[in-house]
Amino acid sequence: MAGTDLQTQVAIIGAGPAGMLLSHLLAADGIESMVLETRSEEYVASRIRAGILEQSTVDLLRGCGLGERLDREGDRHRGIYLQWPGHRHHIDFVDLTGRSVWVYGQTEVQKDLIEARNAAGQEMHYEIADTALHDVETDRPCVTFTDTQGRERVVKAEVVVGCDGSFGPSREHIPMDVRRHWERVYPYSWFGILADVAPSTDELIYAWHSDGFALHSMRSASVSRFYLQVPNDTEPDWSDDRIWEALAARLGHGQDGWALVTGRITDKSVLPMRSFVQTPMRHGRLFLAGDAAHIVPPTGAKGLNLAVADVALLAPALAELIRKDDHRLADSYSETALRRVWRCTHFSWWMTTMLHRGEDPFDEQLQLSQLRWVTSSVAGATGLAENYAGLPIGL
Ligand code: FAD
Ligand code: DHB
Repeated sequence: MAGTDLQTQVAIIGAGPAGMLLSHLLAADGIESMVLETRSEEYVASRIRAGILEQSTVDLLRGCGLGERLDREGDRHRGIYLQWPGHRHHIDFVDLTGRSVWVYGQTEVQKDLIEARNAAGQEMHYEIADTALHDVETDRPCVTFTDTQGRERVVKAEVVVGCDGSFGPSREHIPMDVRRHWERVYPYSWFGILADVAPSTDELIYAWHSDGFALHSMRSASVSRFYLQVPNDTEPDWSDDRIWEALAARLGHGQDGWALVTGRITDKSVLPMRSFVQTPMRHGRLFLAGDAAHIVPPTGAKGLNLAVADVALLAPALAELIRKDDHRLADSYSETALRRVWRCTHFSWWMTTMLHRGEDPFDEQLQLSQLRWVTSSVAGATGLAENYAGLPIGL
Protein backbone atom coordinates (compact mmCIF):
# COMPACT_ATOMS: atom_id res chain seq x y z
CA MET A 1 0.00 0.00 0.00
CA ALA A 2 1.49 3.34 -1.03
CA GLY A 3 1.42 6.39 1.21
CA THR A 4 2.93 8.06 4.24
CA ASP A 5 2.83 5.71 7.22
CA LEU A 6 1.32 6.64 10.55
CA GLN A 7 1.30 4.38 13.54
CA THR A 8 -0.79 4.12 16.71
CA GLN A 9 -2.18 1.55 19.11
CA VAL A 10 -5.87 2.32 18.50
CA ALA A 11 -7.14 3.92 15.29
CA ILE A 12 -10.48 5.58 16.08
CA ILE A 13 -12.74 6.48 13.16
CA GLY A 14 -15.06 9.39 14.06
CA ALA A 15 -14.65 12.33 16.44
CA GLY A 16 -18.22 12.34 17.80
CA PRO A 17 -18.79 11.73 21.52
CA ALA A 18 -18.00 7.99 21.21
CA GLY A 19 -14.65 8.48 19.44
CA MET A 20 -13.47 11.43 21.53
CA LEU A 21 -14.44 9.92 24.86
CA LEU A 22 -12.77 6.65 23.89
CA SER A 23 -9.50 8.44 23.09
CA HIS A 24 -9.78 10.26 26.44
CA LEU A 25 -10.38 7.07 28.46
CA LEU A 26 -7.63 5.19 26.62
CA ALA A 27 -5.14 7.98 27.27
CA ALA A 28 -5.97 7.83 30.99
CA ASP A 29 -5.03 4.14 30.79
CA GLY A 30 -1.75 4.84 28.98
CA ILE A 31 -2.99 3.70 25.56
CA GLU A 32 -2.21 5.84 22.52
CA SER A 33 -4.83 6.49 19.87
CA MET A 34 -5.38 8.52 16.71
CA VAL A 35 -8.76 10.00 15.78
CA LEU A 36 -9.79 10.31 12.13
CA GLU A 37 -12.74 12.54 11.20
CA THR A 38 -14.28 13.65 7.90
CA ARG A 39 -15.67 16.93 9.26
CA SER A 40 -13.85 19.98 10.64
CA GLU A 41 -13.25 20.54 14.36
CA GLU A 42 -15.61 23.56 14.26
CA TYR A 43 -18.39 21.54 12.63
CA VAL A 44 -18.09 18.68 15.11
CA ALA A 45 -18.10 21.12 18.04
CA SER A 46 -21.21 22.99 16.95
CA ARG A 47 -23.62 20.24 15.80
CA ILE A 48 -26.89 20.55 17.72
CA ARG A 49 -28.04 17.17 18.91
CA ALA A 50 -29.03 15.51 22.16
CA GLY A 51 -29.56 17.38 25.43
CA ILE A 52 -30.03 14.97 28.32
CA LEU A 53 -27.36 13.09 30.23
CA GLU A 54 -28.34 10.22 32.45
CA GLN A 55 -26.86 9.57 35.89
CA SER A 56 -24.23 7.03 34.82
CA THR A 57 -23.03 9.31 31.97
CA VAL A 58 -22.57 12.17 34.44
CA ASP A 59 -20.78 9.86 36.91
CA LEU A 60 -18.45 8.68 34.16
CA LEU A 61 -17.68 12.19 32.86
CA ARG A 62 -16.95 13.39 36.40
CA GLY A 63 -14.80 10.34 37.07
CA CYS A 64 -12.56 11.00 34.07
CA GLY A 65 -12.02 14.71 34.72
CA LEU A 66 -14.71 16.06 32.38
CA GLY A 67 -17.23 17.14 35.02
CA GLU A 68 -16.10 20.64 35.92
CA ARG A 69 -18.17 22.71 33.47
CA LEU A 70 -20.98 20.15 33.59
CA ASP A 71 -21.24 20.69 37.36
CA ARG A 72 -21.14 24.45 36.91
CA GLU A 73 -23.46 24.87 33.95
CA GLY A 74 -25.49 21.64 33.77
CA ASP A 75 -28.95 21.60 35.27
CA ARG A 76 -29.92 18.60 37.39
CA HIS A 77 -33.54 17.51 36.88
CA ARG A 78 -35.52 15.29 39.23
CA GLY A 79 -37.81 13.96 36.49
CA ILE A 80 -40.08 14.83 33.57
CA TYR A 81 -43.68 15.84 32.93
CA LEU A 82 -45.90 13.55 30.87
CA GLN A 83 -49.03 15.14 29.52
CA TRP A 84 -52.06 14.76 27.28
CA PRO A 85 -54.90 17.27 26.81
CA GLY A 86 -56.30 18.25 30.20
CA HIS A 87 -53.60 16.36 32.16
CA ARG A 88 -50.01 17.02 33.21
CA HIS A 89 -48.20 14.69 35.60
CA HIS A 90 -44.71 14.85 37.06
CA ILE A 91 -42.69 11.63 37.23
CA ASP A 92 -40.08 12.07 39.95
CA PHE A 93 -37.09 9.85 39.15
CA VAL A 94 -35.30 10.74 42.38
CA ASP A 95 -38.21 9.63 44.56
CA LEU A 96 -38.76 6.51 42.46
CA THR A 97 -35.20 5.34 41.81
CA GLY A 98 -32.77 7.68 43.60
CA ARG A 99 -31.31 8.68 40.22
CA SER A 100 -31.61 11.91 38.23
CA VAL A 101 -30.76 13.34 34.81
CA TRP A 102 -28.87 16.47 33.70
CA VAL A 103 -29.63 19.02 31.01
CA TYR A 104 -26.26 19.54 29.37
CA GLY A 105 -26.18 19.59 25.59
CA GLN A 106 -24.20 17.14 23.48
CA THR A 107 -22.61 20.25 21.96
CA GLU A 108 -21.17 21.12 25.38
CA VAL A 109 -19.97 17.54 26.03
CA GLN A 110 -18.30 17.61 22.64
CA LYS A 111 -16.60 20.96 23.35
CA ASP A 112 -15.31 19.68 26.70
CA LEU A 113 -13.93 16.57 24.99
CA ILE A 114 -12.22 18.55 22.24
CA GLU A 115 -10.69 20.93 24.75
CA ALA A 116 -9.41 18.07 26.93
CA ARG A 117 -7.97 16.13 23.98
CA ASN A 118 -6.35 19.21 22.47
CA ALA A 119 -4.79 20.08 25.83
CA ALA A 120 -3.38 16.56 26.04
CA GLY A 121 -1.88 16.79 22.53
CA GLN A 122 -4.14 14.09 21.08
CA GLU A 123 -3.32 13.31 17.44
CA MET A 124 -6.39 14.22 15.40
CA HIS A 125 -6.90 14.23 11.63
CA TYR A 126 -9.92 16.33 10.65
CA GLU A 127 -11.43 16.88 7.20
CA ILE A 128 -10.12 13.61 5.84
CA ALA A 129 -11.65 11.75 2.88
CA ASP A 130 -11.80 8.18 1.52
CA THR A 131 -11.62 6.46 4.94
CA ALA A 132 -11.10 2.73 4.35
CA LEU A 133 -10.44 -0.17 6.74
CA HIS A 134 -8.11 -3.08 5.94
CA ASP A 135 -7.00 -6.40 7.44
CA VAL A 136 -9.30 -6.22 10.46
CA GLU A 137 -9.15 -10.01 10.80
CA THR A 138 -5.38 -9.86 11.38
CA ASP A 139 -3.33 -8.57 14.34
CA ARG A 140 -2.12 -5.62 12.20
CA PRO A 141 -5.24 -3.87 10.92
CA CYS A 142 -4.92 -0.50 9.23
CA VAL A 143 -6.95 2.47 8.03
CA THR A 144 -6.24 4.49 4.92
CA PHE A 145 -7.49 8.00 4.17
CA THR A 146 -6.75 11.06 2.07
CA ASP A 147 -5.56 14.04 4.11
CA THR A 148 -6.32 17.74 3.56
CA GLN A 149 -3.34 18.04 1.20
CA GLY A 150 -4.64 15.20 -0.96
CA ARG A 151 -2.01 12.69 0.25
CA GLU A 152 -2.98 9.08 0.86
CA ARG A 153 -2.14 8.16 4.46
CA VAL A 154 -1.89 4.72 6.07
CA VAL A 155 -2.50 4.27 9.80
CA LYS A 156 -1.14 1.00 11.14
CA ALA A 157 -2.73 0.02 14.43
CA GLU A 158 -3.29 -2.83 16.85
CA VAL A 159 -7.03 -2.22 16.97
CA VAL A 160 -9.51 -0.21 14.85
CA VAL A 161 -12.64 1.22 16.46
CA GLY A 162 -15.54 2.38 14.31
CA CYS A 163 -17.14 5.35 16.09
CA ASP A 164 -18.30 6.75 12.77
CA GLY A 165 -22.00 7.14 13.46
CA SER A 166 -25.00 6.02 11.45
CA PHE A 167 -23.51 6.62 7.99
CA GLY A 168 -19.87 5.59 8.53
CA PRO A 169 -18.12 2.75 6.69
CA SER A 170 -16.99 0.65 9.69
CA ARG A 171 -20.07 -1.47 10.26
CA GLU A 172 -19.87 -2.81 6.69
CA HIS A 173 -16.57 -4.43 7.62
CA ILE A 174 -18.27 -7.02 9.79
CA PRO A 175 -18.57 -9.78 7.16
CA MET A 176 -22.02 -10.53 5.74
CA ASP A 177 -21.95 -14.13 6.95
CA VAL A 178 -21.53 -13.13 10.61
CA ARG A 179 -23.50 -9.92 10.85
CA ARG A 180 -27.20 -9.42 11.53
CA HIS A 181 -29.27 -6.32 11.78
CA TRP A 182 -32.72 -5.34 12.97
CA GLU A 183 -34.47 -2.16 11.92
CA ARG A 184 -37.69 -0.21 12.48
CA VAL A 185 -38.39 2.93 10.46
CA TYR A 186 -41.05 5.20 11.95
CA PRO A 187 -43.65 6.98 9.79
CA TYR A 188 -42.85 10.38 11.32
CA SER A 189 -39.92 12.71 12.02
CA TRP A 190 -39.02 15.35 14.61
CA PHE A 191 -38.93 19.03 13.71
CA GLY A 192 -36.28 20.44 16.10
CA ILE A 193 -36.40 24.10 17.10
CA LEU A 194 -33.88 26.09 19.12
CA ALA A 195 -35.01 29.44 20.54
CA ASP A 196 -33.50 32.27 22.55
CA VAL A 197 -36.14 32.23 25.24
CA ALA A 198 -36.20 31.16 28.87
CA PRO A 199 -37.86 27.73 29.24
CA SER A 200 -41.55 27.93 30.16
CA THR A 201 -41.13 24.89 32.41
CA ASP A 202 -38.73 23.77 35.15
CA GLU A 203 -38.40 20.23 33.73
CA LEU A 204 -39.02 18.64 30.30
CA ILE A 205 -42.60 18.20 29.07
CA TYR A 206 -43.39 15.19 26.85
CA ALA A 207 -46.83 15.86 25.37
CA TRP A 208 -49.22 13.50 23.61
CA HIS A 209 -51.63 15.47 21.40
CA SER A 210 -54.07 14.61 18.63
CA ASP A 211 -52.12 16.98 16.33
CA GLY A 212 -48.96 14.98 17.11
CA PHE A 213 -46.29 14.71 19.81
CA ALA A 214 -44.44 17.75 21.19
CA LEU A 215 -41.48 18.06 23.55
CA HIS A 216 -40.43 21.11 25.52
CA SER A 217 -36.76 20.77 26.41
CA MET A 218 -34.05 23.32 27.15
CA ARG A 219 -30.35 24.04 26.94
CA SER A 220 -29.91 26.77 29.57
CA ALA A 221 -31.80 29.41 31.57
CA SER A 222 -32.13 31.46 28.38
CA VAL A 223 -32.28 28.85 25.58
CA SER A 224 -35.20 26.49 24.94
CA ARG A 225 -35.28 23.43 22.71
CA PHE A 226 -38.52 22.10 21.22
CA TYR A 227 -39.53 19.19 19.03
CA LEU A 228 -42.73 18.63 17.02
CA GLN A 229 -43.84 15.39 15.42
CA VAL A 230 -44.15 15.98 11.65
CA PRO A 231 -44.69 13.70 8.64
CA ASN A 232 -41.53 12.26 7.07
CA ASP A 233 -39.96 14.47 4.38
CA THR A 234 -41.27 17.69 5.99
CA GLU A 235 -39.07 20.66 5.05
CA PRO A 236 -37.88 22.77 8.01
CA ASP A 237 -39.28 25.90 6.37
CA TRP A 238 -42.25 26.56 8.65
CA SER A 239 -42.70 30.22 9.59
CA ASP A 240 -41.93 31.13 13.20
CA ASP A 241 -45.63 31.88 13.79
CA ARG A 242 -46.65 28.45 12.54
CA ILE A 243 -44.11 26.79 14.84
CA TRP A 244 -45.21 28.74 17.95
CA GLU A 245 -48.89 28.07 17.20
CA ALA A 246 -48.24 24.33 16.87
CA LEU A 247 -46.17 24.25 20.06
CA ALA A 248 -48.76 26.29 21.99
CA ALA A 249 -51.59 23.98 20.94
CA ARG A 250 -49.74 20.71 21.58
CA LEU A 251 -48.06 21.78 24.82
CA GLY A 252 -51.32 23.12 26.28
CA HIS A 253 -50.88 26.90 26.37
CA GLY A 254 -53.69 28.22 28.58
CA GLN A 255 -54.28 24.89 30.29
CA ASP A 256 -54.49 25.46 34.08
CA GLY A 257 -52.93 28.89 33.61
CA TRP A 258 -49.74 27.54 31.97
CA ALA A 259 -48.28 29.80 29.28
CA LEU A 260 -45.73 29.07 26.57
CA VAL A 261 -43.40 32.07 26.25
CA THR A 262 -42.13 32.64 22.70
CA GLY A 263 -38.82 34.10 21.51
CA ARG A 264 -36.37 34.34 18.64
CA ILE A 265 -35.94 31.04 16.79
CA THR A 266 -32.27 30.42 15.98
CA ASP A 267 -32.32 26.96 14.38
CA LYS A 268 -34.81 24.71 12.57
CA SER A 269 -34.08 21.15 11.43
CA VAL A 270 -35.90 17.90 10.71
CA LEU A 271 -34.60 14.52 11.85
CA PRO A 272 -35.96 11.17 10.72
CA MET A 273 -36.46 8.44 13.32
CA ARG A 274 -35.41 4.83 13.27
CA SER A 275 -34.35 1.96 15.47
CA PHE A 276 -31.40 -0.05 14.21
CA VAL A 277 -29.11 -2.62 15.82
CA GLN A 278 -26.27 -4.47 14.13
CA THR A 279 -24.50 -7.40 15.74
CA PRO A 280 -21.84 -8.40 16.63
CA MET A 281 -20.14 -5.18 17.78
CA ARG A 282 -16.72 -6.75 17.34
CA HIS A 283 -15.06 -8.74 14.59
CA GLY A 284 -11.39 -9.62 14.83
CA ARG A 285 -9.53 -6.39 15.59
CA LEU A 286 -12.49 -4.16 14.64
CA PHE A 287 -14.82 -2.89 17.38
CA LEU A 288 -17.94 -0.76 16.90
CA ALA A 289 -19.25 1.81 19.40
CA GLY A 290 -22.16 4.27 19.48
CA ASP A 291 -24.35 5.03 16.47
CA ALA A 292 -22.03 2.96 14.26
CA ALA A 293 -23.65 -0.13 15.77
CA HIS A 294 -27.07 1.06 16.91
CA ILE A 295 -29.50 3.93 16.42
CA VAL A 296 -32.51 4.75 18.57
CA PRO A 297 -35.33 7.20 17.94
CA PRO A 298 -34.68 10.27 20.12
CA THR A 299 -37.73 9.93 22.42
CA GLY A 300 -36.24 9.12 25.82
CA ALA A 301 -32.84 10.68 25.02
CA LYS A 302 -30.80 7.49 24.86
CA GLY A 303 -28.53 7.89 21.79
CA LEU A 304 -25.69 9.84 23.37
CA ASN A 305 -25.92 7.94 26.66
CA LEU A 306 -25.64 4.62 24.82
CA ALA A 307 -22.54 5.82 22.98
CA VAL A 308 -20.95 6.77 26.31
CA ALA A 309 -21.86 3.41 27.88
CA ASP A 310 -20.28 1.53 24.94
CA VAL A 311 -16.94 3.26 25.25
CA ALA A 312 -16.98 2.96 29.04
CA LEU A 313 -16.98 -0.82 28.49
CA LEU A 314 -14.65 -0.77 25.52
CA ALA A 315 -11.79 1.34 26.94
CA PRO A 316 -10.81 -1.10 29.73
CA ALA A 317 -11.33 -4.04 27.36
CA LEU A 318 -8.85 -2.56 24.85
CA ALA A 319 -6.39 -1.64 27.59
CA GLU A 320 -6.34 -5.26 28.82
CA LEU A 321 -6.03 -6.56 25.28
CA ILE A 322 -3.19 -4.26 24.28
CA ARG A 323 -1.18 -4.09 27.50
CA LYS A 324 -1.59 -7.63 28.83
CA ASP A 325 -2.73 -9.59 25.79
CA ASP A 326 -5.73 -10.48 27.94
CA HIS A 327 -8.69 -11.03 25.59
CA ARG A 328 -11.43 -11.71 28.10
CA LEU A 329 -13.11 -8.28 28.25
CA ALA A 330 -12.63 -7.75 24.51
CA ASP A 331 -14.27 -11.11 23.84
CA SER A 332 -17.30 -10.28 25.99
CA TYR A 333 -17.61 -6.61 24.87
CA SER A 334 -20.24 -7.17 22.20
CA GLU A 335 -22.48 -9.35 24.34
CA THR A 336 -22.21 -7.07 27.39
CA ALA A 337 -22.82 -3.88 25.40
CA LEU A 338 -25.74 -5.38 23.51
CA ARG A 339 -27.68 -6.15 26.69
CA ARG A 340 -27.89 -2.43 27.39
CA VAL A 341 -28.36 -1.58 23.71
CA TRP A 342 -31.47 -3.78 23.49
CA ARG A 343 -32.85 -2.43 26.77
CA CYS A 344 -32.51 1.14 25.45
CA THR A 345 -33.80 0.10 22.03
CA HIS A 346 -36.93 -1.23 23.69
CA PHE A 347 -37.33 1.82 25.94
CA SER A 348 -36.92 4.28 23.05
CA TRP A 349 -39.39 2.33 20.91
CA TRP A 350 -41.84 2.19 23.84
CA MET A 351 -41.64 5.93 24.57
CA THR A 352 -41.93 6.68 20.85
CA THR A 353 -44.98 4.50 20.25
CA MET A 354 -46.69 5.70 23.45
CA LEU A 355 -46.38 9.36 22.54
CA HIS A 356 -46.59 9.75 18.74
CA ARG A 357 -49.84 10.10 16.89
CA GLY A 358 -50.55 7.33 14.37
CA GLU A 359 -53.47 6.64 12.04
CA ASP A 360 -55.25 3.99 14.10
CA PRO A 361 -57.96 5.03 16.63
CA PHE A 362 -57.46 1.74 18.51
CA ASP A 363 -53.76 2.59 19.05
CA GLU A 364 -54.80 6.02 20.28
CA GLN A 365 -56.93 4.53 23.06
CA LEU A 366 -54.08 2.19 24.03
CA GLN A 367 -51.67 5.16 24.21
CA LEU A 368 -53.99 7.12 26.49
CA SER A 369 -54.56 4.09 28.68
CA GLN A 370 -50.79 3.54 28.91
CA LEU A 371 -50.24 7.21 29.83
CA ARG A 372 -52.89 7.02 32.57
CA TRP A 373 -51.25 3.86 33.96
CA VAL A 374 -47.69 5.18 33.86
CA THR A 375 -48.71 8.38 35.63
CA SER A 376 -50.95 6.77 38.28
CA SER A 377 -49.21 3.50 39.19
CA VAL A 378 -45.98 3.51 41.17
CA ALA A 379 -44.94 0.34 39.34
CA GLY A 380 -45.59 1.96 35.93
CA ALA A 381 -43.83 5.20 36.84
CA THR A 382 -40.86 3.35 38.35
CA GLY A 383 -40.34 1.37 35.14
CA LEU A 384 -40.20 4.57 33.12
CA ALA A 385 -37.96 6.31 35.70
CA GLU A 386 -35.52 3.40 35.91
CA ASN A 387 -35.05 3.35 32.14
CA TYR A 388 -35.02 7.11 31.60
CA ALA A 389 -32.60 7.98 34.42
CA GLY A 390 -30.43 5.14 33.20
CA LEU A 391 -29.30 1.71 34.17
CA PRO A 392 -25.78 0.97 35.42
CA ILE A 393 -23.12 0.79 32.66
CA GLY A 394 -22.41 -2.90 33.11
CA LEU A 395 -26.12 -3.90 33.03
P1 FAD B 1 -21.75 10.65 15.95
O1 FAD B 1 -21.99 11.73 16.93
O2 FAD B 1 -22.64 10.58 14.76
O3 FAD B 1 -20.24 10.75 15.48
C1 FAD B 1 -19.74 10.02 14.39
C2 FAD B 1 -18.61 10.80 13.76
O4 FAD B 1 -18.01 10.00 12.73
C3 FAD B 1 -19.09 12.07 13.09
O5 FAD B 1 -18.35 13.17 13.57
C4 FAD B 1 -18.88 11.82 11.61
O6 FAD B 1 -18.58 13.00 10.91
C5 FAD B 1 -17.71 10.85 11.64
N1 FAD B 1 -17.60 10.02 10.43
C6 FAD B 1 -18.59 9.49 9.68
N2 FAD B 1 -18.09 8.83 8.64
C7 FAD B 1 -16.75 8.94 8.71
C8 FAD B 1 -15.68 8.46 7.91
N3 FAD B 1 -15.91 7.77 6.79
N4 FAD B 1 -14.41 8.75 8.27
C9 FAD B 1 -14.16 9.47 9.40
N5 FAD B 1 -15.14 9.96 10.19
C10 FAD B 1 -16.42 9.69 9.86
N6 FAD B 1 -29.97 11.63 20.58
C11 FAD B 1 -30.71 11.94 21.61
O7 FAD B 1 -30.66 11.22 22.60
N7 FAD B 1 -31.51 13.06 21.60
C12 FAD B 1 -31.54 13.90 20.52
O8 FAD B 1 -32.24 14.89 20.53
C13 FAD B 1 -30.78 13.59 19.41
N8 FAD B 1 -30.79 14.38 18.33
C14 FAD B 1 -30.05 14.02 17.25
C15 FAD B 1 -30.08 14.81 16.10
C16 FAD B 1 -29.36 14.42 14.96
C17 FAD B 1 -29.43 15.27 13.73
C18 FAD B 1 -28.58 13.24 15.00
C19 FAD B 1 -27.80 12.80 13.78
C20 FAD B 1 -28.55 12.48 16.15
C21 FAD B 1 -29.27 12.86 17.28
N9 FAD B 1 -29.24 12.10 18.45
C22 FAD B 1 -29.99 12.43 19.49
C23 FAD B 1 -28.43 10.93 18.59
C24 FAD B 1 -27.11 11.26 19.25
O9 FAD B 1 -26.68 12.53 18.87
C25 FAD B 1 -26.13 10.18 18.84
O10 FAD B 1 -26.61 8.96 19.40
C26 FAD B 1 -24.70 10.44 19.24
O11 FAD B 1 -24.18 11.53 18.53
C27 FAD B 1 -23.86 9.20 18.97
O12 FAD B 1 -22.50 9.51 19.06
P2 FAD B 1 -21.45 8.79 18.12
O13 FAD B 1 -20.13 9.34 18.52
O14 FAD B 1 -21.68 7.34 18.16
O15 FAD B 1 -21.84 9.23 16.64
C1 DHB C 1 -33.82 16.28 24.04
C2 DHB C 1 -33.84 15.29 23.11
C3 DHB C 1 -34.54 14.13 23.37
O1 DHB C 1 -34.55 13.14 22.49
C4 DHB C 1 -35.23 13.95 24.53
O2 DHB C 1 -35.93 12.82 24.73
C5 DHB C 1 -35.19 14.94 25.47
C6 DHB C 1 -34.49 16.11 25.21
C7 DHB C 1 -33.08 17.53 23.76
O3 DHB C 1 -32.50 17.63 22.67
O4 DHB C 1 -33.10 18.44 24.59
